[in-house]
Amino acid sequence: MRMVDIIEKKRDGFELTTEEIRFFIEGYTKGEIPDYQASSLAMAIYFQDMTDKERADLTMAMVESGDQIDLSGIDGIKVDKHSTGGVGDTTTLVLGPLVAAVGVPVAKMSGRGLGHTGGTIDKLESIEGFHVELTTEQFMQQVNDIKLAVIGQSGNLTPADKKLYALRDVTGTVPSIPLIASSIMSKKIAAGADAIVLDVKTGDGAFMKTVEDSKKLAHAMVQIGKNVGRNTMAIISDMNQPLGYAIGNALEMKEAIDTLCGKGPEDLTELCLTLGSQMVVLGGHAQTIEEARKQLEEVIANGAALDVFKKFIKGQGGNPAVVDDPSLLPQAQYMIEVPAKESGFVSHIVADEIGTAAMLLGAGRATKESEIDLAVGLVLRKKVGDQVKAGESLVTIYANREDVEEVKEKIYANIKLSSEAITAPKLIEDIITE
Ligand code: URA
Ligand code: CA
Repeated sequence: MRMVDIIEKKRDGFELTTEEIRFFIEGYTKGEIPDYQASSLAMAIYFQDMTDKERADLTMAMVESGDQIDLSGIDGIKVDKHSTGGVGDTTTLVLGPLVAAVGVPVAKMSGRGLGHTGGTIDKLESIEGFHVELTTEQFMQQVNDIKLAVIGQSGNLTPADKKLYALRDVTGTVPSIPLIASSIMSKKIAAGADAIVLDVKTGDGAFMKTVEDSKKLAHAMVQIGKNVGRNTMAIISDMNQPLGYAIGNALEMKEAIDTLCGKGPEDLTELCLTLGSQMVVLGGHAQTIEEARKQLEEVIANGAALDVFKKFIKGQGGNPAVVDDPSLLPQAQYMIEVPAKESGFVSHIVADEIGTAAMLLGAGRATKESEIDLAVGLVLRKKVGDQVKAGESLVTIYANREDVEEVKEKIYANIKLSSEAITAPKLIEDIITE
């Protein structure tokens, strides 16, 4: 087999065979196929697309390019959730205990990552003593005992995707639906998921800016899942403004605790109930979404979800007292209000710019080496559609330094007011099951 023939075949719009896709992925992972040929094929895929069969083959070839986590020692259907990434997205912290309380095992591998705030692990580490260094046995045991554990990334998962994603980044081939869909799905499958729930974000603050593109990506991933034997569902959710109120590590931890108590922001609560219901159905603990939702509402109301959260924190070395007393979380030295300069209705909260404002305070990492400050961040006092009077606070800045002029300016530039009433945006755009 020759790589050049594979490139020409795709360039001319033909379907590649399973063997051809494997030849490419295996050869590229080993370094036998050079970057210039791989980038040429990626560009041909960008223009010619891939069939459902090719997409499934590409996903599984990438899964098999490295280690795969074996979660067969855990009872039940392991359902994983993936979000395409938003600002202030606290869902994982809520969903874990929430669905675990209904009996769905959550064996989560998580990362730190770059961005506006830390990753799930950073947020969890805002709890004193909490750690993610569990042995495989401890990890499995904890999931079997209390249905929830989080472990740091280990092993060499999907090296083909790492290499190909980096190459796509510099060759103009990131925005290709088959390449994005196989990239995301391969990582979830390699991490051991039996079933997958996807939160595809749409809007200014999201990877996919339009609802139409987000739907295409969601359908593509659901199809791949079905074709490789992993039941998959997706929702399309709004990311034109940050999710919930808090953006920052300890601040989001507190927001997650509030939500598990039934006192969280409306949008975060609704998103968690929607995603959670899908997880419960895929996990085989309910027949219908409605039935699943009732179960989730019940474990919030009766405290069972919060109880799982406490056991989970204790199981991983943290102090569970933070759940009843969030003031035990890292606290910022200064709280600075950002008052509205005029009266009106909030029309835009530009999500990624507000995220960047939180990063400027130290809530997120600009580079892999940056240290993050778990205490700092922003809490929105208003969301899109809310009425605001001049002088009322738009945002509270939680900082560990007094001079936050640059952050304030960024907030003023990215929270826009209108003199006319604005309707709040729809949170869930669509639910995709096939
Ligand atoms: N996220 C991924 O993991 N892969 C892509 O290709 C795009 C976004
Ligand atoms: Ca939030």
